[in-house]
Amino acid sequence: MSNQNIVLRTIEWSEKFSVGHPVMDEHHKTLLEYINQLIEIVQSDIHEEQVRWLIHLPKFQIYADRHFTVEERLLSKVNFPNLDEQIQQHGNFSDRISRLIAQGGLAGDPCHFAESMMHWWTDHVLVHDMAYKQYMVQLQE
Ligand SMILES: [Fe+2]
Repeated sequence: MSNQNIVLRTIEWSEKFSVGHPVMDEHHKTLLEYINQLIEIVQSDIHEEQVRWLIHLPKFQIYADRHFTVEERLLSKVNFPNLDEQIQQHGNFSDRISRLIAQGGLAGDPCHFAESMMHWWTDHVLVHDMAYKQYMVQLQE
């Protein structure tokens, strides 16, 4: 399953990823841990790799969906103007991972999938979620 041509790097959570809301930050940290594990799994050479991958994906999906529900509820509460865009982004993500699980989790290139999940996470947090940071800070004041 490993593709030795690509070197994928895990990312450590730091303050620059903070959206100013402790619960959302915790969720994002956990999502990042799941994605770091995806990267670790696809780059390991051990033979249990596929089993670990298949166990990991549904847990990741359940956690991500839970995060999206809570995040959308919070954004709705503060009348965040780009809520529709967030809902659409969350839906696209859920569809991708659902499709992969429905296909047995092994369709396509797992390295590419892990890489695209990491891109998705950084884009989700640094672009889309950073846009609501001010709303979240105001909510806590
Ligand atoms: Fe988020």
